[in-house]
Amino acid sequence: MSFTSAVLALSLLLSQVAATPTLHKNSTLNAPRKIGKRCTGEITSLDDVAAAEECTTIVIGGFTVPAGQTFTLNPPDGAQVSLTGELTFGFENWAGPLMEITGNDITFNGGGHDLNGQGTLYWDGEGISGGVTKPDPLLRINMGGTFSDVQVVNSPGRAVAIGGSSLTVSGVIVNNAAGTAANSLSGGNPAGANTDGFDVSANDVTITGCTVNNQDDCLAINKGTSITFSNNICEGIGHGISIGSITSDVTVSGVTISGNTVTGTVNGLRIKTDATATGSIVENVIYENNKLSGITEFGVLIDQSYPSTLGTPGTGVIIENVSFDGTNTVAVGSSAHRVEVNCGSTSSCTGTWNWAGLDATGGTGSTVKNAPIVGGTY
Ligand SMILES: *[C@@H]1O[C@H](CO)[C@@H](O)[C@H](O)[C@H]1NC(C)=O
Ligand SMILES: *[C@@H]1O[C@H](CO)[C@@H](O)[C@H](O)[C@H]1NC(C)=O
Repeated sequence: MSFTSAVLALSLLLSQVAATPTLHKNSTLNAPRKIGKRCTGEITSLDDVAAAEECTTIVIGGFTVPAGQTFTLNPPDGAQVSLTGELTFGFENWAGPLMEITGNDITFNGGGHDLNGQGTLYWDGEGISGGVTKPDPLLRINMGGTFSDVQVVNSPGRAVAIGGSSLTVSGVIVNNAAGTAANSLSGGNPAGANTDGFDVSANDVTITGCTVNNQDDCLAINKGTSITFSNNICEGIGHGISIGSITSDVTVSGVTISGNTVTGTVNGLRIKTDATATGSIVENVIYENNKLSGITEFGVLIDQSYPSTLGTPGTGVIIENVSFDGTNTVAVGSSAHRVEVNCGSTSSCTGTWNWAGLDATGGTGSTVKNAPIVGGTY
């Protein structure tokens, strides 16, 4: 056998050997284990997906995803997925989602390309619970691993929903700035509504170095443990960084919100729990070194009366341990409230609330009801 044919035979053999999955230690499976083949699968239409998702390298070219269909991708464990062009999602009034990725220890690199939801064709100022049906969310990430460098443009409803566990999201831009202006259907209100940046119901998730410009929460944590939101930018007329709203029988445990810059949004930092919810807990929340400015309604709002704002609070959700560490500066607009805390009782807002790292300025003032806050300037 010549050297060349030996190499050929060896590489042929290797191409048939299953790639070894490289699951991180302690990572929880998001999908059944799936062993891939050492090949490169190219996707330039939905017809290519089934064959490509057998391979441990997947390259997605730019194309238009047909209206009314979800681009679902379930790569093998440990796969490398890259995007080399823009994905545009065809217009149709249906429920969505527009794209969904599942899998274990996946590396998804978007190369800075767009996922374009064509929101301008749907927006009517009424969001996802009113008006025409809007596909929602644009992108559902139910994978573990890393997801990076994508621009999500003009989501009809929510931009990115995160489930699963053991995931780092970085360098994602949610650009729904076009939804801020009114259109002919929105009655003078912003055309985009419910365009949440990141909705999280997941464990062991880090979202870092991302930018969100939208008309609803920049981050909304609905449930989960070990969630870090760091060094992100929230801008536009959005609703800021939020835990909640918290419904019954859910746990949010271990949230770190650090190094973020929030500019010009309606709210800054919020925890909102449903007045009627029971059996839920929000515990160990740390705000650290965040910079907020130009907030138009509430700098910091912790409210147990949702959906009312500063209404009659419930006591069925426990909020335990909320701290402001380092230096958090919260500068609010002239008619905004610096800090409002509206707890149902001192047993529903409990534990250690060390707010020494909070410096809130501007606006009309602050009110705290039933919370054991120590320290801080507000
Ligand atoms: C994580 O994995 C190590 C071994 O790799 C094990 O000792 C440890 O108990 C695991 N922790 C959890 C929370 O599963
Ligand atoms: C709340 O913090 C205190 C320390 O200040 C700690 O003893 C307690 O375990 C924490 N609560 C939870 C639910 O972790």
